Amino acid sequence: MKVIGVDLGGTNIKAAVVDKDKGIIERVTTPTQANLGKEHLLDRISETISSLVETHDIIGIGMGLPGMVSKDQTTVNNPPNLPGWISVNAADEIRKRTGIDCKIENDANIAALGSMHFGVGQKFDSFIMITLGTGVGGGIIYEKKLFKGTEGMAGELGHVIIDYHGPLSNSVTRGTVEAYLGQRFLSRFAADLISQNPSNPLYSKFANDFDKLEPVDLTNAAKEGNELAIEILAKSGQRLGYALINYVHMMDIRKFVLSGGVSKAGDFLFEPAKQIVRKHMMEPFKKGFEIVYEDLGNDSALLGAAGLAFDSFSN
Ligand code: BGC
Ligand code: NA
Repeated sequence: MKVIGVDLGGTNIKAAVVDKDKGIIERVTTPTQANLGKEHLLDRISETISSLVETHDIIGIGMGLPGMVSKDQTTVNNPPNLPGWISVNAADEIRKRTGIDCKIENDANIAALGSMHFGVGQKFDSFIMITLGTGVGGGIIYEKKLFKGTEGMAGELGHVIIDYHGPLSNSVTRGTVEAYLGQRFLSRFAADLISQNPSNPLYSKFANDFDKLEPVDLTNAAKEGNELAIEILAKSGQRLGYALINYVHMMDIRKFVLSGGVSKAGDFLFEPAKQIVRKHMMEPFKKGFEIVYEDLGNDSALLGAAGLAFDSFSN
């Protein structure tokens, strides 16, 4: 049994044929070029898929994208990275163009499904996926099912507020998790501190262009023993810790699966988070609390999208 998984990102459209037993058996990638407009992008996605549809017996398509999706997994509303997509029934548009049934889902929800079907999430009945990338996304798996909320948009965990006096991010609110742990914001926070420390090796490396500083540079510096990099990641980890406490207190789900570029900092981020949790979380919730890193890498989005298609179209 075969499906197509699609990962619609800001830079690339990735698609793959996924076999229930063999995993990914064929893949294609093409630039997103969202700036060319909605119709163009829908055509482009469909053309990318069409080549796969012709050579394989496909039962359905699943696609992940970075925005809030309706409960019936058809319609995306105001995705920040897809200009002009106000309210678009993308599932229907793709079915019309390819002749294959399609379901769509929020990218972080997809990552959670990917982890549940193919990754470290397999061992948990319930867990919370947090994707630390450009945006901070969340996906809640409750008793082996994606928790969707009343309208389908549950799990916007990056927009949970941890300091109402804090900095602004993309959202209208201050001090959201994304405003601290989203890639751009974390880099800016780091750049501020590094620019005050001219003797630090990161200063000479980036002084002319702090925009080039990425979380991976902090992780690498931390591994080399750079105290300031360790401190920046620790501070970010503490902020993550407060966010995790909120999520646990709300859901009583105690397993966290982290993915995305920033999460590659591993224990430089997770240990300080755990310290905050040990200190400030209500005692009865502490049993079984765990943070694990999802290792599926770039394929987690494709495999998760395939998982959505298997769930929706195999009966
Ligand atoms: C968006 C989410 C998305 C996340 C990761 C956030 O800014 O609101 O819908 O899942 O970024 O892409
Ligand atoms: Na989500």
